[in-house]
Amino acid sequence: MDAIFLSSGDVIADRRFEYARDLVAEGDFAAAADLLEQTLELAPGYAAAWFTLGEVRERLGARDAAAAAFGKAAAADPQDRHGANLHLIRLGVAPATAMPESYVRSLFDGYAPKFDHALTQGLSYRAPELLLQAVQASGAAMTFAHALDLGCGTGLGGAAFKPFCAKLTGVDLSPAMLAQAKAKNIYDRLDAGDVVSFLDAGTARYDFILAADVFMYLDDLHPVLAAVKRAMTPGALLAFSVETHDGDGVMLRDTLRYAHGAAHVRAALAVAGLTLITLEPATTRTEKGVPVPGLIAVALLPPPLRGRVGEGGH
Ligand SMILES: C[S@@+](CC[C@H](N)C(=O)[O-])C[C@H]1O[C@@H](n2cnc3c(N)ncnc32)[C@H](O)[C@@H]1O
Repeated sequence: MDAIFLSSGDVIADRRFEYARDLVAEGDFAAAADLLEQTLELAPGYAAAWFTLGEVRERLGARDAAAAAFGKAAAADPQDRHGANLHLIRLGVAPATAMPESYVRSLFDGYAPKFDHALTQGLSYRAPELLLQAVQASGAAMTFAHALDLGCGTGLGGAAFKPFCAKLTGVDLSPAMLAQAKAKNIYDRLDAGDVVSFLDAGTARYDFILAADVFMYLDDLHPVLAAVKRAMTPGALLAFSVETHDGDGVMLRDTLRYAHGAAHVRAALAVAGLTLITLEPATTRTEKGVPVPGLIAVALLPPPLRGRVGEGGH
């Protein structure tokens, strides 16, 4: 429960909200719900309080009331920085959609200073090394003229591949994550923005594209893989990780990250015209100490077939 604290503009409501959060931390959800309802009588447009009330009502087993509170939180903050709409998707009352950019940006801007330590020490993050192993095992020449790191974050994935890349570009939604990446001095260029918009707007072409633990913030993989394909040179490689589940489609997990079934990954790659080389089960991180099921994928944009001698040419 880590609602971003945004003031209601009413000092008493803010104080009640803080006290309600203390009650949440102590596990007294019934008292917290009462206090949050009182807070919202004073400040009915207080998105953080509606959001926390949604979480608390869910803890109390009141699913419909929780959905109502998340709905109010989403309505109270059009940027949806808390990700209330994602809870509505998770609760099955709204269809799966792309994550709001402002939610992802707020999440990672807040996370950036402690990201490297939290991921590597706390969550046993291994996506960069697993992806590097998979690309090496694919038989790739391991010399890339221009590589692109999608959702580069602080540069953990970029750092693993840097020795093999003459030029390395990174793109990420979160300026604070990009500031951490810049300080590492491993990228030739860093851009702030959404991965699909970046790919669609750019004219650069890459012979290697990396997406280490990024696609869990996207629902349907078809648009991003189509955009990736357009930015690849013939013979280029794409390496990415996803969280997965036993079904075929895309589901939003309780953690508010999307899990992609293997069939969805295969289908989206095939539709994009990319040839799958590797799709291996792997765990890139833990969640509350438990390994999260995932997949490591490597795909190729096949070079065009050359005609036999004597064919064509007229
Ligand atoms: C779990 S971090 C992984 C960062 C990095 N790839 C690594 O291996 O450490 C996910 C990153 O993806 C970025 N991200 C998520 N959705 C994005 C999108 N649609 N466009 C650009 N960046 C995105 C986040 O801002 C965050 O920095």
